[in-house]
Amino acid sequence: MSTFQAPKGTYDLLPPNSATYLAVREAISAPLKNSGYGYIETPGFENVELFARGVGGSTDIVTKEMYAFETKGGDQLALRPEGTASVLRAALEANLHKGGNLPVKLWYSGSYYRYERPQKGRYRHFSQVGAEAIGAEDPALDAELIILADQAYRALGLRDFRILLNSLGDKECRPVYRTALQDFLRGLDLDEDTRRRIDINPLRVLDDKREYVQERLVGAPMLRDYLCEACKAYHEQVRELLTAAGVAFEDDVKLVRGLDYYTRTTFEFVHDGLGSQSAVGGGGRYDGLSEMIGGPALPSVGWALGVDRTVLALEAEGVTLDIPAATAVYAVPLGDEARRVLFGAVTELRRAGIATDFAFGGKGLKNAMKSANRSGARLALVAGERDLAEGVVQLKDLRSGEQTPVALDAVVEEIRRALG
Ligand code: HAM
Repeated sequence: MSTFQAPKGTYDLLPPNSATYLAVREAISAPLKNSGYGYIETPGFENVELFARGVGGSTDIVTKEMYAFETKGGDQLALRPEGTASVLRAALEANLHKGGNLPVKLWYSGSYYRYERPQKGRYRHFSQVGAEAIGAEDPALDAELIILADQAYRALGLRDFRILLNSLGDKECRPVYRTALQDFLRGLDLDEDTRRRIDINPLRVLDDKREYVQERLVGAPMLRDYLCEACKAYHEQVRELLTAAGVAFEDDVKLVRGLDYYTRTTFEFVHDGLGSQSAVGGGGRYDGLSEMIGGPALPSVGWALGVDRTVLALEAEGVTLDIPAATAVYAVPLGDEARRVLFGAVTELRRAGIATDFAFGGKGLKNAMKSANRSGARLALVAGERDLAEGVVQLKDLRSGEQTPVALDAVVEEIRRALG
């Protein structure tokens, strides 16, 4: 193994492509910032117990995919596999829910870790932007979050995504359904692994993508038919609000999601250009999670969108983001005196807020102009001894090739004008 190799299932974000990742994070967070969500940052690791209790002992995430470890001091920690449990833990710890201002609306952006089998769109280190609205039971809040994710994706220029929507019921109606489903599944001819899941997490069997499983599931009881009146009414309101907002969705009665904490509203954003890892984002309501981790009852809802998969979705649709060149002006000194003078001009331009770079390393003119072109700059600032003797520098438009002398003390002003 080469020393210069990132660990399996990980990759580096490098310029210029890394700019797309920043732009995606920005595009996803912009509608949240505009809707009352405050930024939260939590540690990259937590006590393993938080995820075991919160995300759930029956999930693959906890049983197979968690980077759990013991520290030298004997603490049992895990790299965070997701953000919801951490954000809720932090909100409870800081008593944000006691400020008399519910829901507490938070957004976050960061790295998450799951020991999954790597493939395109599935990594061991990935990045999410997420939002959580803690402490309110209101269908408008569920709708708000779905609308904001839709808005973010549309702002990025994505079109080929679909929103799948379901209700998983609550602590009244879901247990009744769970038992009915278990009775049905136990009568089927299934492999041993799947039979084990019937006891631990029967709803996940519905989600099984294998054809032979799906064939046997025909006629299985559906949660939709078991929802209590309160859950039905709640779900109907979410659907109506989305429709009124012009956000199209598909009812997907088999949408279960891979985390144990969901109740009522669940949804997934899927992109049709991504193959098997088609979920670009997902979320839902988690009315019982606070109590599961030892807090008070705090009905909540949230989502997380995967940044890596969103970038893949952009590629699949052939969308290139309009990312302005990092550098507007590139300074090319010819000789030592010019280096000193132009470096001063560069500092002045930067202080004036103009993105400027400099030909470092004593490059010759030809190489320096190559670097200027590669930087994406619109203007080059070139000066040699003769220019300095005349008190000017040459301003070169890198598109037209046109070159004009500019008085040294008017550089910032002239460049501002030239850049429009
Ligand atoms: P999740 O569905 O597990 O939900 O993850 C959300 C998104 O993160 C996925 O749709 C996907 O885009 C991305 N993602 C997950 N695993 C990977 C991976 N191995 N490689 C690349 N991308 C990945 C959650 O994490 C919940 N915390 C969402 C939530 C927030 N629910 C309520 N609030």
